[in-house]
Amino acid sequence: MGMKERLAAKIPAWRERVNRLKRDYGPFKVGEVTVEQIFGGIRGVQISVSDISYVDPNEGVRLRGYTIPETLSLLPKVPGSVYPMMGGLYFLLMVDEMPTMEDALEVEAEWKARGEVPGHVFDLIHAMPLSTHPMTLFSQAVMALQSQSVFAAEYSNGLAKKDYWEYYLEDSLNMTAKLPAIGAYIYNYKYQNGMYIPPNPDLDWSANFAHMIGKGDNKEYQDLCRLFFVLHSDHEGANVSAHTSHLVASALSDIYLASAAGLNGLAGPLHGLANQECIRWLLNTYNHFGRLPTRDELAQYVQDILASGLVVPGYGHAVLRVTDPRFTAQLEFAERFMPDDELLQLVKLGTEVIPGILLATGKAKNPYPNVDAINGTLQYHYGVTQFDFYTVLFGISRLVGLTTHAVWSRIFGKPIERPKSLTTKMLEEMVEGLPPMGNGSGAKG
Ligand SMILES: CC(C)(COP(=O)(O)OP(=O)(O)OC[C@H]1O[C@@H](n2cnc3c(N)ncnc32)[C@H](O)[C@@H]1OP(=O)(O)O)[C@@H](O)C(=O)NCCC(=O)NCCS
Repeated sequence: MGMKERLAAKIPAWRERVNRLKRDYGPFKVGEVTVEQIFGGIRGVQISVSDISYVDPNEGVRLRGYTIPETLSLLPKVPGSVYPMMGGLYFLLMVDEMPTMEDALEVEAEWKARGEVPGHVFDLIHAMPLSTHPMTLFSQAVMALQSQSVFAAEYSNGLAKKDYWEYYLEDSLNMTAKLPAIGAYIYNYKYQNGMYIPPNPDLDWSANFAHMIGKGDNKEYQDLCRLFFVLHSDHEGANVSAHTSHLVASALSDIYLASAAGLNGLAGPLHGLANQECIRWLLNTYNHFGRLPTRDELAQYVQDILASGLVVPGYGHAVLRVTDPRFTAQLEFAERFMPDDELLQLVKLGTEVIPGILLATGKAKNPYPNVDAINGTLQYHYGVTQFDFYTVLFGISRLVGLTTHAVWSRIFGKPIERPKSLTTKMLEEMVEGLPPMGNGSGAKG
């Protein structure tokens, strides 16, 4: 039985769970919204439900209930490797069940069958100036695939609401199948003189990306891709890219339109683009000393950065209150395969020195490293030195999560989103006559 049939078998029970909540507890109040939150990025307001993943502040992300170490250990591995197949991860996220080897291989086979990228997508990339940011090219390529949307075609022919999910799934499989080839094409176009390497049918989805950028002989980089793509696949349902793609799909825009919208959010410096800032900071720090600094030298350097009003990239998180387990998983990889790398030494020194300094400021709620504190170091080590491409790697992985959210939103028949906005005058009238209450727990300014 394939992924679609296994998913279909689960739908009635899931629909009943959600229907019971809506039917029997519709008026139940989940939370309240404060003035501070309205002006503060609706931070922490519980506005959506995601069973695909959940970020526990003290534990990090759980994918379908599994922690990062559990996910890495339980997913079926590529034969000869200790790192998982992304096909297995897609099955886990989509079906809500840990896949067998057969399940994982089946998704990988589906991807291979659907992987050919239409020529017009490559033509579009070529039509853009070489200086275009790779995230722009990536988003455009995904948009260009929209002409193939099965959902869009079927919808215009008349489609029952209960069946929407099937066509979202079809589009999701068709699109995700092509992501490694599109990513590799952009990388080669921008940085490798337009070199073209066709996919290798013997390789899994993740390793094929490595192969298509010319790292077909590098087993370690293939493993890094397997690890990286699993780790970045999802991080709850309400971060910028997840929320954006969800919002767009709520208008029944198809997977391609919703995914491109999500990528455009990911391309922002406060979201996915942060990883290029982190590697830049590490390299600048290393180059400042011309060698690995001592503990004291690094401590002083970080103090100076804070004193000048800058943040320390790679540290802190809006939700997490511990070291990001995705950081730890990549650190373990690095310790295993590249223990002598100088930048890795700097990353490790940072984890010993920086948290104490950030804690002492009494400001940062989380002084520990996040995933971006190490992402770039690993890519850099294996020769992917073009920082601006790192967000594309992130995006290739994240679309696996975002498409799963979209399919499940259609399974639940979620309606178009339309929250309400107020005017400043309305808020002023609401607080009229009340004594001042202060600026809440963390409002800026
Ligand atoms: C990730 C980040 C944006 C989260 O922001 P947040 O939720 O507002 O974090 P906090 O609530 O802990 O911030 C409270 C204060 O501590 C400061 N702070 C948090 N992390 C910091 C860091 N790494 N370096 C210096 N100061 C930091 C904030 O700037 C804020 O200061 P302010 O009140 O003067 O504005 C923030 O930690 C940060 O800027 N980190 C560095 C950039 C980074 O690593 N980005 C990638 C994230 S995956």
